[in-house]
Order: sequence, then structure tokens, then C-alpha cells
Amino acid sequence: MQPTAILDPAQLRDKVPARNVDDIVAKLFLRAWKGQTGPQPLGRMQMISDPAEASDLLSRPTDFPKYYSFLTELGQSRLDANGTDWEKRRDLTQPLYKDAARTANRAKLCDAYDRWLTDEAIQSGQIGRALLAAASEVFSHALGGTVDTAPIADWLINLRQTAILAQHVAMFDPSTVQLQDLQKRVAQQRQQLRGILAQDRALAQHMHERLMELDHSIDLLGEVIINLFAGTETTVSSICWALNILARRPQTQEEIAAHLLGGGPDSPVLSNFIQEVMRYCPPVPLLVRTVAHEGETLAGRPVTQGQMVALSIVGLHHHTDYWSDPTRFDPTRKEFVENSYHRRAYLPFSAGPRVCGGLGLARAEVAIALSHILKRYRIAPVATPIRYEFSLTLRPLGTSQLQFDRR
Ligand code: HEM
Repeated sequence: MQPTAILDPAQLRDKVPARNVDDIVAKLFLRAWKGQTGPQPLGRMQMISDPAEASDLLSRPTDFPKYYSFLTELGQSRLDANGTDWEKRRDLTQPLYKDAARTANRAKLCDAYDRWLTDEAIQSGQIGRALLAAASEVFSHALGGTVDTAPIADWLINLRQTAILAQHVAMFDPSTVQLQDLQKRVAQQRQQLRGILAQDRALAQHMHERLMELDHSIDLLGEVIINLFAGTETTVSSICWALNILARRPQTQEEIAAHLLGGGPDSPVLSNFIQEVMRYCPPVPLLVRTVAHEGETLAGRPVTQGQMVALSIVGLHHHTDYWSDPTRFDPTRKEFVENSYHRRAYLPFSAGPRVCGGLGLARAEVAIALSHILKRYRIAPVATPIRYEFSLTLRPLGTSQLQFDRR
């Protein structure tokens, strides 16, 4: 099956051995496009992309706990915790995310994106930073904070580089210099964020009070670092994918803009487009779990205790049995327009007990940001295919070079 030229074919070559995490992502796409849907080795892991296996894996977190070795370097959090530790950590933030996502709070989300997505930021190549600042503001408000999020955006830009190194250390044999560099970067970043958050007395007070109600032993800084990263990088990556694809599809851009100019961000045309963006280029392209017990099976198939299982979200989203013409990017894909897609073949936010904690917020934020931009700007057409970078999230490169012209 021939892939369409959304992603750069030059980047999507099967490199043996894989030299970095971007090469691993290339394998996810290539295997999916070749229709290789059965379990296969992926480095030290076993890669799966079958919806029944995905469903079994995600619905039994005790039997298939999380494995996030590199994330733990940055701080422990609900993202990588398991069992009762996870439950306590979840209770610290989940009610706050739920509240922030309520329709009654929608105006606050719009305000954050209005404030940061200024003409100057958009037209001076600073859109990525502005989006990070807006998403961080939404995150900070959810946790009761009031801090200026510009320094947090810069801190997140640095964190992305730290995460690339952390991933490399986890997946390949690192040199001593790389290990030392990672430890140094992690220590610096923790200290920097501690400094930024110390200025936000409201957030510190609010979180401290919640912590006292729950469990004093939680490393609050680690919890905030990883939640912040999970809640902003993914959202911004999704928006950046959408902008980059729109820049290469002027007609889609005009069709969506016409719908938005006649209504609000809740347009079904925009929503179908966003779903297709997240199908084609999932910001979280794979999820990793381990097999906890001896004699375990995954959807009836025996698996080995201690085995790391990598669920390819790319593989699910391009699975030939569940999607018509999966390699084609189709903004009006019938599976979304008719709402007929297989629920376990589309998991951009994961599923089961460990489903994304900020799903409601994320969906609203992506639609608000795109609506805000498309109503005011035309994104100049770009002909070249997109290159990507994987740093915990999958992101398109070159968003700062897109050209935005006032409507
Ligand atoms: C489009 C944006 C987003 C995408 C695609 C996304 C995707 C995901 C995925 C796939 C997971 C599961 C990770 C795993 O199992 O290893 C996850 C977990 C999580 N996400 Fe999101 N996410 C997004 C936005 C957000 C936002 C805005 C927040 C909060 C403000 C958030 C908070 C979390 C948390 C706390 C978890 C861990 C859930 C748990 O295990 O307790 N995410 N997200």
C-alpha cells in the first residue's frame, strides 16, 4: 500500500538497527502501512497493534502495569505509578482536571488562547511557544495557579530536549557522558521549575492543601512536572500537526474556516478534521506496559512474565481491517462523519482505567486554538511533506516556519 505524502518518505525508512527513537517511530508507520498487524519484536519489546489485544492490555492495569523508565528520571507521578500509589496520585489532580473541563469553564480556556495567540506571536514564528504558554496557563489555572506561564513555556522547550536524551538512555545503550548529561539536565530542570512555581503562591498553597488531605509522601514537584508535560506537550503537538496539515491543504483550510466563521469551535467539520489528524499522526504513538505474572495471556495468546509490550497506536490507527484506505489522510473520513469507527482501533487518548486524565480539556483546547487561528489567518500553502520528532510526544518539525496571513 502506498502512503500519501503527508509524512516525509525520506524520514520513513526502515533503519536496521534503529539509531534513535525517530527510527522506532518510522518502524511503527512502515509496519502498519505494510499491513503487518501481528505481534512483532520492537527492540527489546513486543509490539502489538490488534484492537482485541489493545483492549485486554489496557483494561487490566494490575496484570499489565505501566513501564516508563525514562520518565521516572524526571519525577515520579501518576503517569508512571501503579496500584494504590497511582490511586492516591490520581485523586490529587483528577477532580481538578474534570472541573476545569466543564462547559461552564470554557470561557477561561478561550481567554488563555486569546491572550497568548497574539498577532505578534503568530506572525513572528513564536506560535509554538505561545501555544505552550496558553496550554500551561490552562494547566496552572486547573491546579489553582496564577503564575505568568511565559517562563514555563521556555522551560518546556528545554524539557523536550531532556526527554529526547532520557528516551535515548532508556532505549539504547547510553555512553557514560550521555548518562551524566541526563542527570545534570534533570537536576537543573527540577531546580528551575521549583523556582518558577515558588513564585506561584496560589498554586503551591492549593496543591499543598490537597496533598495534606491525601498523602504527604508524594513528591509534589515530580507530580507537577510530569502532569505539566503530559498536559501541554500532547495538546500543543496535536495543534501543531493540524496547522502543518492545513498549510498543505488550502482547500480543507477554507472549508473549515467557512464553517467556523458561521459558528463557534464546536463545528462538526472541525471536529472530524481533528479526529483524522489524531488518527493519522497520534501525539502518543505507542504505549508501553509490562507483563506482571507468570502464565499470563493477552486476548488468549500466551505472553512471558517481565516482557515489555509496546502497543502501537500508529498500528491501530492504520489497521487495514478497521479503516478504509488507512494511508490516506481524509478530513471527511466516513468512519468519523458517521461515527462508525471501531472504538478500540482509535485510541489517541488510550482507554480503560488509565485513560488520559485531561481528555475533556484537551479536546476543548485543540478546537479552541484551531478555531481562533483559522478565523483570523490563512496559513500559506507549503508543498513539502512533514518531518517529525519524537520526544514522549510525536511532533511535526517546522511549525515556526509556517506563514500566517491575516484574512
Ligand atoms: C491532545 C492532547 C492529549 C493527548 C493526545 C493525550 C494522550 C494521553 C495518553 C495516550 C495517555 C496514556 C499514557 C500511557 O498510558 O502511558 C495520557 C495520560 C494522561 N494524560 Fe493525556 N493527553 C492529552 C492531553 C492531556 C491534558 C490536557 C492533560 C491534563 C491537563 C492530560 C493529563 C494526562 C494524565 C494525568 C495522564 C495519566 C493518566 C493516569 O494514568 O492516571 N493529558 N494522555
